[in-house]
Formats: sequence, structure tokens, C-alpha cells
Amino acid sequence: MEIKTTGHAFTFRSTTRALLVLGFFLFAIACKQETSVAPPLADKVKGENTFSAKGSVKEMSITPETTNFPEHEGRSEFMSYCAICHSLRYITTQPDFSKKIWEEEVHKMVAKYSAPIDSATCNKIVDYLMVIKGAK
Ligand code: HEC
Repeated sequence: MEIKTTGHAFTFRSTTRALLVLGFFLFAIACKQETSVAPPLADKVKGENTFSAKGSVKEMSITPETTNFPEHEGRSEFMSYCAICHSLRYITTQPDFSKKIWEEEVHKMVAKYSAPIDSATCNKIVDYLMVIKGAK
């Protein structure tokens, strides 16, 4: 098919070209911003974790989670099931809760977030949570 260079076609092509040029600049700006974001982020996570950026390669090392949980019934269930989606520290940094609240929390993980934990295991985990984070 032959394409005629009518005035209309010309306008279309220059619009396309203008959009391509604009797109390129936006892309260039986006790339530039990404690299300039790295240093402040690196400052933020100094401390126990380290973050460094060498050229375009970013490295992050995170302190391994402590496995220093007291030996008690339910410990292994807690450690394996409750760390599937988030860290265990996410749980241990919560305040000490009553048994009712821990039951609700564990139930929420199952009902709302589809944690694959059967109810017998949930009960064991709640008991273990009461040992490590139960309100006195
Ligand atoms: C299927 C994924 C999944 C599993 C498994 C899971 N959680 Fe969660 N948990 C979540 C999500 C998602 C959130 C909400 C994160 C947010 O809002 O930032 C959350 C948040 C929490 C919170 C913070 C308070 C809250 O209600 O948001 C606690 C405490 C918690 N989980 C405890 C547990 C315990 C205890 C277990 C083990 C029984 C567990 N989680 C297992 C997905 C899960």
C-alpha cells in the first residue's frame, strides 16, 4: 500500500516524533533520578544493615534473623509458619498481647492473608506466642 505524504500524514508523523523525543527525555530523567536516590537511601540504612551501590550494582546485606527463641512446644511451628510472608521480628516487635488478641492475630493471618495453617497448629502457635509475647 502506498502512503501519500499529505499534510495530515505529515502532522501525524511529526507528532509521533515529538512524542518519541519527549519519551526519551522522560526516560533519561527517570534513569538519572534513580541513581541519585541511592546515596541518601544508603545513609538511612547504615547501622546494623549495610547498603552500598557500586555503579549500577546495588548490594544490601541484612543481619540474619535471630533464632534465639526459647525452647517450648510450638516453637518450630511458629518459626516455620509465621515467617512465610514476613519476618519473625515483625511479630516480636509487637507489644505483649493477651491470648485473645494473639488468637485474633493468627486467625487474621489465615482468614485475611490465606496463611496455610490448620487450626490445631494455630492453637500451638498461639500458646507459643503467649510464652514469648504474652501479656502478663
Ligand atoms: C500468608 C502470609 C502470612 C503469614 C503466613 C503470616 N502473616 Fe502475619 N501478616 C501478613 C500480612 C500481609 C500482614 C500485614 C502487613 C501490613 O499490613 O503491613 C501481616 C501482619 C502481621 C502482624 C502485624 C499486625 C497486623 O495485624 O497487621 C502480626 C503481629 C502478624 N502478622 C503475625 C503473624 C503470625 C503470628 C503468623 C504465624 C501464625 C503470621 N503473621 C503469618 C501475612 C502473613
